[in-house]
Amino acid sequence: MNECQLDRPVTARVQARIQESGSIFTLRLALPTDFAFVPGQFNELYLPGVGAVPISIVRAEGRLVDHSIRAVGRTTLALSALKAGDSLLLRGPFGQGWPLTALTGKNLMILTGGLGCAPVHALILELLARRGDFGRISLIQGVRHADDLIWRQTYEAWSSRGDVEVHLAADNSSPDWPWHHGRVTTLIDLTGLPQADTRVILCGPEVMMDHAIRHLLDTGYRAGHIWLSMERNMHCASGQCGHCQMGPLFVCKDGPVFNLPAIQPYLFREGI
Ligand SMILES: Cc1cc2nc3c(=O)[nH]c(=O)nc-3n(C[C@H](O)[C@H](O)[C@H](O)COP(=O)(O)OP(=O)(O)OC[C@H]3O[C@@H](n4cnc5c(N)ncnc54)[C@H](O)[C@@H]3O)c2cc1C
Ligand code: FES
Repeated sequence: MNECQLDRPVTARVQARIQESGSIFTLRLALPTDFAFVPGQFNELYLPGVGAVPISIVRAEGRLVDHSIRAVGRTTLALSALKAGDSLLLRGPFGQGWPLTALTGKNLMILTGGLGCAPVHALILELLARRGDFGRISLIQGVRHADDLIWRQTYEAWSSRGDVEVHLAADNSSPDWPWHHGRVTTLIDLTGLPQADTRVILCGPEVMMDHAIRHLLDTGYRAGHIWLSMERNMHCASGQCGHCQMGPLFVCKDGPVFNLPAIQPYLFREGI
């Protein structure tokens, strides 16, 4: 049973801190009890006296939970200074995860940009654990610079399995970059997936998701077959404060994963 209560934070001890890239690090946290979640959900990480931030759950096993975090501001920079043995407070899991039932039996395109790979990592582990339940699985991950790619060895291991297609792209790449150059959206067509029988999982910067959605819809993918994970500033994480509101929807409670038709009227519009 998951002992974490949504309204009662637990103390989490940093078991390991891994530097993934210049600004991205992973905290492996040890909780007092086993932790259960649905891939796509998130936790709130608290540093008393500093702040609280929503962070996707990358992986959980027993009492251990991994979070990969980009240091961008007050709280994430303070989190990045933690080392093994330090403590923080954790509340969760929150939100709606990826729709595993709707994905079963289908071809899957998992399209991510930048640290958008974090909210889908646990989903990919689940899909691979039940590999026979799905059709083709195509992973597309884009980064701005080749140096921004995290989990390079993980992608190589997935690629070498033979039953998963991996397409990596960098807008700006170095000579030793062995994968694609250019925008991640140009890789959609390369997969050759059948539009009507493919479900799409999307996560990344909003400008990337905007371009990807337009391209997918223009090339015959159906809106109802596309799910995306949204990020908004959050405060209560329980649908009460309105910080994360998009029209009538709350990203913390109704999302962060949404089926495209539900969220489409409020997407990529200022002031919503
Ligand atoms: C459901 C969800 C899951 C998330 N998962 C992850 C994750 O796995 N890893 C990760 O690194 N980050 C994740 N984020 C984003 C993370 O919560 C923010 O980067 C963090 O709240 C920034 O807080 P701060 O105090 O460090 O920065 P602040 O001092 O608050 O702000 C620094 C800068 O970041 C911007 N910013 C703040 N919050 C957000 C936000 N939610 N989205 C976009 N820009 C923001 C601000 O406008 C400002 O420019 C997630 C957000 C949500 C809503
Ligand atoms: S964070 Fe308060 S309503 Fe979502």
